[in-house]
Amino acid sequence: MSFRTIEWRDDAVIMIDQTRLPGEEIYNTYTDFKAVAEAIKGMIIRGAPAIGVAAAMGIALGARDIIADTHESFFKQLENVCDVMARTRPTAVNLFWGIERMKRVAEANRDKKLSQIKEILKKEAILIEEDDLTICRNIGKWGATLIPEGATVLTHCNAGGLATAGYGTALGVIRAAQEAGKDIRVFADETRPWLQGARLTAWELMKEGIPVTLISDNMAGFFMNRGEITCCVVGADRIAANGDTANKIGTYSVAVLAKENNIPFYVAAPVSTLDLTLSDGSKIPIEERPASEVTHIKGVAIAPGGVAVRNPSFDVTPARYITAIITENGIVKDDFQAGLRKMAGC
Ligand code: MRU
Repeated sequence: MSFRTIEWRDDAVIMIDQTRLPGEEIYNTYTDFKAVAEAIKGMIIRGAPAIGVAAAMGIALGARDIIADTHESFFKQLENVCDVMARTRPTAVNLFWGIERMKRVAEANRDKKLSQIKEILKKEAILIEEDDLTICRNIGKWGATLIPEGATVLTHCNAGGLATAGYGTALGVIRAAQEAGKDIRVFADETRPWLQGARLTAWELMKEGIPVTLISDNMAGFFMNRGEITCCVVGADRIAANGDTANKIGTYSVAVLAKENNIPFYVAAPVSTLDLTLSDGSKIPIEERPASEVTHIKGVAIAPGGVAVRNPSFDVTPARYITAIITENGIVKDDFQAGLRKMAGC
């Protein structure tokens, strides 16, 4: 890929600033965990797998900077670092998955010297980033089998290289289908209010020469109804045990429209996005973001001052609208309950 979403370099975390795309390709350097937490909150980095990686790298930075005489003091301070990371964004479960994985590794090495534990945490964060790339490629391989030659694929939000360590989940499926020699076209929903589709999906697909057509969200039904969409592929922020899927606001509407028009609707996500502790999607916490994301575009007001606003950042698509869930371990259809457990190795 011609850009890096996030990497550990020279004892710092480097992230492409997604708030500045597509206008400017700027890489920010983070040397302390609080700044990484602010970057996650402020959407400098976003997308479920990418924020999982960022949280892990933030924890590695935080651990490195802990000054402690005893293991007890170190672990207490580490807990605080993890808490700060956990308070950044509530919906994408990959964030909490990343935090838990770092805590487990620290705990498993409790008997080692603090300098060794710090080094182990750094290596683990880098491994999470490297693993994510392999996972996305495997999601792509499985998913590509579902995409027919000549398909036009509609996607919502950005579940691409920018939302992961690279390659992407939904866009990984599209990339893999293209790499397999298929002629694929993409329709990208602009994804109001934050415009992940217009700003990020269009940018990364155009950068690689994958044909992409940008539409505003309210046009999806028009093109489906005219027979111009072969299938939909989206990412996920959290998938409950029954297959109900939280993803960017507007995904639910796309799924309902797809069913109405007999178009397959696929969700592509790593196993780290499964939350099998939740029986269904009604229990998934939904982040509400600032009203200004709805009332303003690039600082310019597009609504009367003082208007009441709601801004839920995600919605939940009931499993009955989902044709299949594509993971790195295979494809789940029909019996999501059993299939997802199998994918997670339970
Ligand atoms: O608010 P965002 O931009 O973090 O939301 C991102 C999404 O909803 C993505 O579709 C999801 O995280 C999957 S990314 C592979």
